[in-house]
Amino acid sequence: PTLEQVKKDGELVMLTNAAFPPFEYVENNEFVGVDVDIANEIAKDLGVKVKVVNMDFDGIVDAVKSGKGSFGAAGITIKPDRLDKVDFSIEYVKSSQYLIIKKGSGVTADQIPNLTIGVQAGTTGEFFCVDDNAMAEDQVKKYKTALEAANDLKNGRLDGVIVDQLPAESIVAKNSDLELIPEALTEESYAIAVQKGNTTLLDAINTTLQRLMDEGKIDEYVLKHMGA
Ligand code: ARG
Repeated sequence: PTLEQVKKDGELVMLTNAAFPPFEYVENNEFVGVDVDIANEIAKDLGVKVKVVNMDFDGIVDAVKSGKGSFGAAGITIKPDRLDKVDFSIEYVKSSQYLIIKKGSGVTADQIPNLTIGVQAGTTGEFFCVDDNAMAEDQVKKYKTALEAANDLKNGRLDGVIVDQLPAESIVAKNSDLELIPEALTEESYAIAVQKGNTTLLDAINTTLQRLMDEGKIDEYVLKHMGA
């Protein structure tokens, strides 16, 4: 929807995958997180409300492409093949993939090409394994969420889980039997995705994002939700 349509509907529809704390997760039956806070600020600046639609991560970019929802906000990394499908806002967070292992297992990051790794399907964690490290199909186990992958790591079905830095920190903080290898495996930036050519809405999103960054709000949101 164009900016005009959003204003007419009185609603911004945010497509996300709410299993990615601190960026989006469910608490007390509500969608919360850094991306939800950002969406609320965009909506406030436009005088509309936000509706959050939860879906599988690997469907978000295609859904935005086909005009479902107003935008995708899900800690989405800007990638060339995604840029073929959608337009991205300015970057609002820098991130990297990180390796989580079972505490005491002694697994190291240089072993990754020979390990069995769990990832969230359709994420840059998967692409890091499959594309950058040429890992075999059966070495890379795909899950609907990184939390499910972490459970299989705990159960001994995986050697490691590869996921974005802050979600990795959040998982390790809640699971004392897991450990984070403090080594950035990739360099990534998050942005909000809109349908190609939707410049009116993209400009409005960029204006709010720039304001939030200037005010130091994004860091504040991250701190607030990392405690959750
Ligand atoms: N940054 C990674 C990517 O774009 C993972 C994002 C996962 N986001 C989520 N809400 N589950 O591929």
